[in-house]
Amino acid sequence: MAPLACCLAISFVFPVVLSNTDMQVLKNISELKPPTNLTIVDRQLGEVTISWNDGLSEIIKASTRVKYPFEYKYFDSQTWQEDSRLLESEYRKTFELHRGVSVRVKTMVQAMRKIKKVESNWTVIDIQPPPGDHETLASNVSCIVYNNSLMNCTWNQGSKAPHDTRYEMYYRQGGNISQCTSYFLDEDGRQGCHVSQIEVNAENVIICVNGSSNSTLIQAYYTDFSPWEYEMFNAPINLKVLLNLSVTWEMLHCCRCFQFQLQVTNLDQGHHEFFIVEEETKYSLQSINLTERYSVKVRVKSKSTCGENKYWSEWSNEVFIERTLSLNMHWFVHMSVVLVTMVGLLLIFAFGRYRVLEVAFKPIPNPQKKFKALFEEYNGDFQNWMNCQVPVSELDECHPVVIEEGPHIEA
Ligand SMILES: *[C@@H]1O[C@H](CO)[C@@H](O)[C@H](O)[C@H]1NC(C)=O
Ligand SMILES: *[C@@H]1O[C@H](CO)[C@@H](O)[C@H](O)[C@H]1NC(C)=O
Ligand SMILES: *[C@@H]1O[C@H](CO)[C@@H](O)[C@H](O)[C@H]1NC(C)=O
Ligand SMILES: *[C@@H]1O[C@H](CO)[C@@H](O)[C@H](O)[C@H]1NC(C)=O
Ligand SMILES: *[C@@H]1O[C@H](CO)[C@@H](O)[C@H](O)[C@H]1NC(C)=O
Ligand SMILES: *[C@@H]1O[C@H](CO)[C@@H](O)[C@H](O)[C@H]1NC(C)=O
Ligand SMILES: *[C@@H]1O[C@H](CO)[C@@H](O)[C@H](O)[C@H]1NC(C)=O
Ligand SMILES: *[C@@H]1O[C@H](CO)[C@@H](O)[C@H](O)[C@H]1NC(C)=O
Repeated sequence: MAPLACCLAISFVFPVVLSNTDMQVLKNISELKPPTNLTIVDRQLGEVTISWNDGLSEIIKASTRVKYPFEYKYFDSQTWQEDSRLLESEYRKTFELHRGVSVRVKTMVQAMRKIKKVESNWTVIDIQPPPGDHETLASNVSCIVYNNSLMNCTWNQGSKAPHDTRYEMYYRQGGNISQCTSYFLDEDGRQGCHVSQIEVNAENVIICVNGSSNSTLIQAYYTDFSPWEYEMFNAPINLKVLLNLSVTWEMLHCCRCFQFQLQVTNLDQGHHEFFIVEEETKYSLQSINLTERYSVKVRVKSKSTCGENKYWSEWSNEVFIERTLSLNMHWFVHMSVVLVTMVGLLLIFAFGRYRVLEVAFKPIPNPQKKFKALFEEYNGDFQNWMNCQVPVSELDECHPVVIEEGPHIEA
């Protein structure tokens, strides 16, 4: 009776009863050794595959949960970056290898029922930067993915790279390493290369820009990035401002996850206002003063909730809003002046020649006077006469037709 009570008491305090194996495993775990033989087993541009041995027995692996916390620290940084708690004793990750990086891994064992967790010490390896002076690196490398599948990467020549340095770009997205072949110099004098087969919503793009020179080693630059993050959308098109001051524009694919930035410039005062429009291709301009001139244009990128793009698109076409109110006033004043002047001139002309009554009561004009040729030469045959009027090229063959204007000339 007593041992049973004891057992019950124990299991009350420790609601989970440890099996024999668990007990032994936990005992062994307290002597957990750090991973050994931490090695780089594969390298594709900046992507390295690292593996290690944990030294754990099969029994421990079968009866516990084993994880491998993995961290790294660039040579130019002070802090270790937590990365993953891996389940396999192998890991693949892309580093900016030109910075030099230390990686460390340890073994962490947890009994199945999570009563106890034991960790080993870290095992560290250093991955040295590629050979060459750091100042020969292609500097300020930046890539833009655009029009869904195209990519431009550009860079500046390293400050200590000799004049004969030829940089080359290699890239990879999932599959094999490709060499970029379409090199260019952009308008800012930056070197670059153009790639036409990037998938925007796929794996990271891995880039290496290395180079060669006759006089020195050129250090290789490595990076990777998610293509959608560096995507620059095509600019919105067909921006219009309707009469009720609604602004509308169009996108080829619309509009989930899009944010638009509308720039409204007051051309008279020379300042800008920006408005953000989400997932819609219209905006109602309310705050504009109709006595001043404005211009409106719009650009696009993805919303932050959808993983914000790094770049805005180019601007759309720009539309100008004229001074609608004062323009109408001007028009009104202008027309009034013209009207008054015309009436005035007419009156002066009429009275000046004392012919106002004659003009007012002039007889109904005689068509025979106006269409002399029709009656005199074609005997009133309208059809025939018309045939000779058009087309112009045939006019020569016909008799000249004189159409006299204004009855006062006859009078
Ligand atoms: C505990 O470790 C010892 C030696 O290190 C080994 O012989 C034994 O099998 C281990 N027991 C378990 C349950 O892993
Ligand atoms: C170290 O790891 C490498 C790669 O996995 C392997 O080829 C080698 O045999 C290992 N060495 C030892 C001593 O475990
Ligand atoms: C872990 O490292 C500390 C000091 O760095 C050392 O005293 C200890 O013995 C190590 N433990 C194991 C299990 O290697
Ligand atoms: C780096 O490149 C970007 C994009 O081309 C450019 O805007 C920036 O001015 C450059 N910075 C330096 C320091 O060259
Ligand atoms: C963008 O892609 C479309 C079709 O995918 C193509 O017709 C167009 O020429 C491309 N524009 C540029 C600037 O490459
Ligand atoms: C990319 O580079 C090509 C080739 O120089 C150029 O025609 C194109 O305008 C560039 N596109 C972008 C978005 O920078
Ligand atoms: C640049 O890197 C590529 C890919 O790793 C390699 O094939 C090429 O030999 C390297 N070029 C130089 C000059 O190091
Ligand atoms: C302006 O007019 C367009 C079409 O004529 C209409 O769709 C829109 O709702 C109007 N906007 C406002 C703010 O009245």
